[in-house]
Amino acid sequence: ITDEKPDGVLAGLRVLITAGPTREALDPVRFLTNRSSGKMGFALAAACQAAGAQVELIAGPVNLPTPIGVRRYNVESAQQMLDKANERVGKAQILIATAAVADYRPRAVQDDKIKKSSDSIALELEKTPDILGELSRRETHLFTVGFAAETRELERYARAKMQRKNLDMICANEVGPGQGFDVDENALLVFWPGGQQQLGPRHKRALAGELVDLIATRYATGDE
Ligand code: CTP
Ligand code: CA
Repeated sequence: ITDEKPDGVLAGLRVLITAGPTREALDPVRFLTNRSSGKMGFALAAACQAAGAQVELIAGPVNLPTPIGVRRYNVESAQQMLDKANERVGKAQILIATAAVADYRPRAVQDDKIKKSSDSIALELEKTPDILGELSRRETHLFTVGFAAETRELERYARAKMQRKNLDMICANEVGPGQGFDVDENALLVFWPGGQQQLGPRHKRALAGELVDLIATRYATGDE
């Protein structure tokens, strides 16, 4: 009989990850969404699992296989993602929010399919809940990692976001044509309150492994 100890930089830790886009319904057959592929979140789930963590993955609609050993929950809307995150966050030590959550949703969801009539119509939108922001403010024990896709002023916007959402770390990437969304390569500029590090550019899978190492280091180091 061997006393099997899990090894890896996240051994014994529980990690909750959000990934993919959300879908915000307009009517029974239509929704608002975005171009997120979910690849970074799924790659991170696999990398955390490989690093010895118990991983739960809350995924919006994406066309990706569940990494082996990872427990996956499928959701559609931002509200469903928040509800599931609230349900699963209790035992987690680390939350990694890679999801590209829709910022707005239609104020009213029509029960019947919207018919074509006028030449133009206006959609009234309301803000969705901030999943990461809510959890990180409420669950003060959690080590929280956010993502920020920006088209300009990467460091300024990312650091502001980290402060506003009370995060331990934020991973910023520049997005634009062929960059960040729906591609296999990515580069991240990772910020935490006392420092920063550039990761990549490289394949999202390799990048995920490096990011997991950095998260483990920062988690172990804590605030200085
Ligand atoms: N996020 C979230 N819930 C939301 C919006 C964002 O959990 N409703 C998370 C994302 O998963 C990401 C981080 O917050 O980890 C930052 O997302 P981002 O869209 O960059 O920030 P926003 O606060 O939505 O600000 P903006 O889109 O205006 O830049
Ligand atoms: Ca947003």
